[in-house]
Amino acid sequence: MVEDPAGWNRQAWDAQVARGNRWTRPVDAAAIAAARRREWSVVLTPKQPVPRDWFPPLAGLPVLCLAASGGQQAPLLAAAGGVVTVHDLSPAQLAQDRLVAQREGLALRLEEGDMRDLSRYPDASFGLVFHPCSNSFIPDPAPVWREAFRVLRPGGVLLAGITQPVRFLFDEKALERGELIARHSLPYSDFVHLTEAERAELKAADEPWCFGHTLEQQLGGQLEAGFVLTALFEDRGEQQALDSRIACFLATRAVKPG
Ligand SMILES: C[S@@+](CC[C@H](N)C(=O)[O-])C[C@H]1O[C@@H](n2cnc3c(N)ncnc32)[C@H](O)[C@@H]1O
Repeated sequence: MVEDPAGWNRQAWDAQVARGNRWTRPVDAAAIAAARRREWSVVLTPKQPVPRDWFPPLAGLPVLCLAASGGQQAPLLAAAGGVVTVHDLSPAQLAQDRLVAQREGLALRLEEGDMRDLSRYPDASFGLVFHPCSNSFIPDPAPVWREAFRVLRPGGVLLAGITQPVRFLFDEKALERGELIARHSLPYSDFVHLTEAERAELKAADEPWCFGHTLEQQLGGQLEAGFVLTALFEDRGEQQALDSRIACFLATRAVKPG
């Protein structure tokens, strides 16, 4: 069965908030106070902070945090001077940003929607699109790159987190036991590569549907949309069997030519 993942993933991310998933926990008041003093860092990938020189000057900059809610990066970028819009599918994730904004007196525009459809934003309306590792929740990242390009103004910057294709090759249960059993192929889809019983198990655990993309879809897709890639770094996550051997995440910086 192949279905569009957005309906279930919205519900699943709401449930992840209730479960206290790491990517749903809002920053504290001390982090916001530090960001107001221009002492801040944010991640696109599990651990490594994005270099500060990847960011355009934030003061007054219109920033789109794309599929990036959870009360983490958006309020920090707002406290550091950005004029921030958060666009995300999950009302509960957006509520985490609202919570920080209200607690800290920050202005955040919260928009519930799919990352593939940014039609509510005019062309060239942002100077920065900040998109952490979240396109593994959609079957094809191409619309995200195209829409990010359209809504950025010339000279605008796209910062993206990407899950490396290798993360999707192995049997997940075996990985948890520390064994590498190559099982899948790329592009990966929970709908295509898992059994119905495995999908039922994931659904019972409120896990969102996942998709693994090729580097052609991820990096080639950005270039195809018109971006110029200017920098990247690799980062590692918590999957010991894999992350001890290869960095499973990439962060990229791309610019819309001016
Ligand atoms: C891993 S969390 C990312 C947020 C986090 N602040 C971070 O640093 O990575 C993934 C986010 O993607 C959102 N998401 C999943 N599918 C989406 C879609 N189709 N459109 C928009 N957002 C989506 C989820 O609601 C969730 O907030």
